[in-house]
Amino acid sequence: MKLCQVFIICVACLTTLPDLAVGLRNVNVHIPSAVKRGDNALLICNYDIENDTLYAVKWYRGRREFYRYTPKEKPAWKIFTKTNEIDVVTTQSNASHVLLRNVPTSISGKFACEVSADAPTFDTSIVAADMEVVELPAQRPIITGIHSRYRLGDIINGNCSSDYSKPAANLTWWINDIQVPPNYLRTYDIQRHLAEHLESSVLELNFVVTTHHFIKGRLKLKCSARIHDIYAQESEKLIEEDRPRILASGRSPDMNMYPFDQPGDVDEHNELYLIHKNAAPRPSELDWQQQLTRFLLMGLLHLAWTAAQLSRTRNQHSCSISQAERARIKRLR
Ligand SMILES: *[C@@H]1O[C@H](CO)[C@@H](O)[C@H](O)[C@H]1NC(C)=O
Ligand SMILES: *[C@@H]1O[C@H](CO)[C@@H](O)[C@H](O)[C@H]1NC(C)=O
Ligand SMILES: *[C@@H]1O[C@H](CO)[C@@H](O)[C@H](O)[C@H]1NC(C)=O
Ligand SMILES: *[C@@H]1O[C@H](CO)[C@@H](O)[C@H](O)[C@H]1NC(C)=O
Repeated sequence: MKLCQVFIICVACLTTLPDLAVGLRNVNVHIPSAVKRGDNALLICNYDIENDTLYAVKWYRGRREFYRYTPKEKPAWKIFTKTNEIDVVTTQSNASHVLLRNVPTSISGKFACEVSADAPTFDTSIVAADMEVVELPAQRPIITGIHSRYRLGDIINGNCSSDYSKPAANLTWWINDIQVPPNYLRTYDIQRHLAEHLESSVLELNFVVTTHHFIKGRLKLKCSARIHDIYAQESEKLIEEDRPRILASGRSPDMNMYPFDQPGDVDEHNELYLIHKNAAPRPSELDWQQQLTRFLLMGLLHLAWTAAQLSRTRNQHSCSISQAERARIKRLR
């Protein structure tokens, strides 16, 4: 029991010790998580060496060292690359910075910086981060299958695709600049072009057009494609509401087909529609309560009316009977 406690205390001491007594501190790297193929990539390794002296800074791609900076040597740098995949710009690289020129997609992966102090501490610390070299799509996202005119009740069904990139782009559909809810979407597996080492993505949009989607008879569909924080492109498609001609004088006969349209809703409420639909089930609850009270009121009115009718017919009835009765009485007399 005692031994165990001592052991725990020792472990605790050892884990906190380096912070207090050690010369090499705060080793961290700044490595871009995504870089365009062909661009330069600057990798930075920061550290506080304090009262120690630096022995070496080593950079690794995966498990292979590709650059070493040793201040006591002349020249201070060494490059280790068998293939010329990793092209270090030595004039722009030093004890903390490494500049890679014209990066190819093949070097995507883990990059690590190892800093070691000289005698007497020989402290060593290694920190890694991922860098992905991205092949951008050759063109904007492509919208297919969308017509330029739709009537209320039609189904809008189309695709947005972003072709030939690495990694595949993230696609998003927007209706009038509001991101569409997931129930309007269908995702497909990423298509892999093995020979080219590239990928394509496609996202299908599918929904029934209602008045809520049109603002002054127009609907704007947009698809955006993003790759990390280095690529963003979009494509748009403008749609016009196709109204039957009889509509000019008033309500369209088609309108009766859409029981979920509230007569009070006008196009100006359009923007709010998707948000409500997404976030708040309350308005429909309210509607439901309104409908119920309306229904009860109607019921009461109806009851009152039938009661009134009934008493009237009864009066008439009793009146006519009494008239007939009177006539008969007259005849009898
Ligand atoms: C570095 O060494 C000096 C004296 O040699 C000492 O006063 C100072 O506190 C040390 N600094 C650190 C950060 O250990
Ligand atoms: C290393 O080089 C960068 C420029 O590439 C420079 O900003 C930085 O101050 C240099 N650092 C050292 C320790 O020489
Ligand atoms: C969208 O693309 C997928 C995958 O290529 C395809 O199966 C689907 O039929 C397309 N949808 C439309 C509406 O074109
Ligand atoms: C796509 O989005 C997801 C979730 O936000 C993110 O984790 C991923 O890195 C993104 N992919 C690209 C290629 O931008």
